Amino acid sequence: MANQLPLVLVTHTLPDGWLDSLHGRCRTIIGPKDATVLAPELKAHLSQADGLYTLLTIRVDEDILDKAPNLLVISNMAVGVDNIDLQACTRRGIPVGHTPGVLTEGTADLAMALLLAAARRLDEANHDARHGLWKTWSPTGWLGADLLGATLGIVGMGKIGTAVAERARGFGLRIVYNDSCPNQGAESRFGASCLSLEDLLIESDFVSLHVPLTGKTRGLIGEKALRLMKPNAILVNTSRGAVVNTADLLLALREGWIAAAALDVTDPEPLPPEHPLYKQPNCLITPHIGSATWNTRRRMAERACENLLAGLAEECLSFCANPEVYSRE
Ligand code: GLV
Repeated sequence: MANQLPLVLVTHTLPDGWLDSLHGRCRTIIGPKDATVLAPELKAHLSQADGLYTLLTIRVDEDILDKAPNLLVISNMAVGVDNIDLQACTRRGIPVGHTPGVLTEGTADLAMALLLAAARRLDEANHDARHGLWKTWSPTGWLGADLLGATLGIVGMGKIGTAVAERARGFGLRIVYNDSCPNQGAESRFGASCLSLEDLLIESDFVSLHVPLTGKTRGLIGEKALRLMKPNAILVNTSRGAVVNTADLLLALREGWIAAAALDVTDPEPLPPEHPLYKQPNCLITPHIGSATWNTRRRMAERACENLLAGLAEECLSFCANPEVYSRE
């Protein structure tokens, strides 16, 4: 009986309990904890797989899809799905699940933490204190930027952008935003006006990015955008690294087109240890930890299980990244 259950490939070993809802509902083959590509032992079973449960570090492309002709569902334990060739999945009738909603607050907390840390130069101050450079209380030591009355430009006023605006209002920031569709809620709740990207970049003291990575947003913040920003401006990125052009950002930080950047995501990822961005004292880098709280990650895992089980049962996924898959003839 048990071998009639659908077969699911889970790309990574996850903590105990996170996949509990799969027990008795499918057979699983589970990959190693820190896999960055699909493990060979999983690859070998692609041809029999009914479901794929994956993380954002695994690229799911035509090559994998070709080898897995029976897939009923792919479930990504992430809100972003730029690691998956969505169009190829849609063409093959495979729904792709993702996990919006459950990581909104955690990611917004981190964006705010990065903004504050960059504004008050916490990384440099901490480094200097630990390395004997704290000689005295200096009136001009480690001076940073005020939040009260400054302007925060939010690029992408979706769930996470809105949660950042909510937090930022508490610090007295004025909010402006850019989005392809005006967000009336944000306008009435935060008095936020919708600006063109150019105007937002020109006006903002802080710019926080909250757009998915798509063909349109790749390289959105490159030389042209960075040169529009104020010399005192701080760029915060908790979305996807490739929304920013890394080489242009490095130049902007070196040459003072902007004051600082705080990045939770980079391009490439991980950023290699010898990368020159790490040498920039005005660049704070964290290793893609926007959703890294125990509660958030567990809820992401559970939501990904729900999507997976719905797909295996050939029901519509509650959180589907390619809903057009259901309107194919
Ligand atoms: C994290 O980056 C996610 O997309 O969930």
